[in-house]
Amino acid sequence: MTPSPAPSTQPILEGFRHALAAAEAFVGATAPNPPVGCTVLDADGGILATAAHQKAGTAHAEAAALALCRQARTFERIHTLLVTLEPCNHHGRTPPCVEAILASPARTIWIASRDPNPAVAGGGAARLAAQGRQVFDLAALGHSEAAELVRRADRLIAPFVCWSTRGRPWLTLKQALTHDGRMVPPAGAKTFTSAASLDLAHSLRRRADAIITGSGTVLADDPLFTVRRVADPRTGARRLAILDRRRRVSPDYLRAAPLRGLEASLHDSIPEALADLAATGVLEALVECGPSLLAAFLEADLWDEHVVIRQAAPAGRADHIDIHTRIPTPDPRSPDVFRNH
Ligand SMILES: NC(=O)c1ccc[n+]([C@@H]2O[C@H](COP(=O)([O-])OP(=O)(O)OC[C@H]3O[C@@H](n4cnc5c(N)ncnc54)[C@H](OP(=O)(O)O)[C@@H]3O)[C@@H](O)[C@H]2O)c1
Repeated sequence: MTPSPAPSTQPILEGFRHALAAAEAFVGATAPNPPVGCTVLDADGGILATAAHQKAGTAHAEAAALALCRQARTFERIHTLLVTLEPCNHHGRTPPCVEAILASPARTIWIASRDPNPAVAGGGAARLAAQGRQVFDLAALGHSEAAELVRRADRLIAPFVCWSTRGRPWLTLKQALTHDGRMVPPAGAKTFTSAASLDLAHSLRRRADAIITGSGTVLADDPLFTVRRVADPRTGARRLAILDRRRRVSPDYLRAAPLRGLEASLHDSIPEALADLAATGVLEALVECGPSLLAAFLEADLWDEHVVIRQAAPAGRADHIDIHTRIPTPDPRSPDVFRNH
């Protein structure tokens, strides 16, 4: 890595803010790829384009941003690329981004997060550097906002890191509690939390590729499990994995699921469900279940983010929300993961 950055700090921070916002808009829509954003700067630090990877099989963020420059006839002014994730150096469903960058006038490439895939970590940056491009880690700016932007970029790919290094989806447990600590709603009600908490619950659903629940919840609530309160960029179906050893969930419920954009499946154990979800490219699953299944996830220490929404007492005041996140740490078998961070 070349130690000192050439362009000034503020355009880099501003460009990364745009790139991260662009990528965050497609969280929940890109699996099995991670969300990625890219901003292109000219030599004066002016933003020429910002783009995000929107869906697997479509252009990666770097290629999309370069294409925007071509369309706007600013391609020859390209000087610096800011990418939230290290550009890929391998052929997947689309050509390697490194080649697209090398075919552009970009001289300098800034990277927020390194590629977590042990097979390719460092490969994209190394190839760019070997071809005479300057490559910098955003963290090397040594700036407090840069550190915060790197944290956002690392969080953005945390489900992808979890899936690619642990072989299971990132698990978010959502647990709503009444003011006296119960998970079961009062008779006749399906929920007891505030409108803001329901918005949060739907934003957690929106970012997940799958919902995991238990037969007890399906039988008690007949839940829709759709994203209704926030915009949802997802175009394909979301998985709905139901833990139901006794097969109590009705065929009618399962038949209606696809009409709501859900691909439902029944499972006999948590490990079996997680393996099945991971095999179909589910990067993140939201666990929305009752107390029995939730206890099993907690007992097995199977969670990456635990969101506890506690109803305020007296009702009507803002709920108390507690979010505990465990960002994946480097796997000892793959020491390249997140090096330099
Ligand atoms: N407050 C909240 O955040 C929240 C969220 C969702 C639901 N709820 C409420 O929770 C209530 C339902 O509670 P619940 O506990 O019956 O629902 P649940 O946890 O969603 O489902 C329990 C069922 O899951 C199956 N299961 C499969 N593997 C399991 C395992 N390893 N451990 C435990 N269960 C496993 C069991 O059925 P088999 O034995 O047939 O496999 C069990 O009866 C409803 O009133 C609902 O409104 C609350």
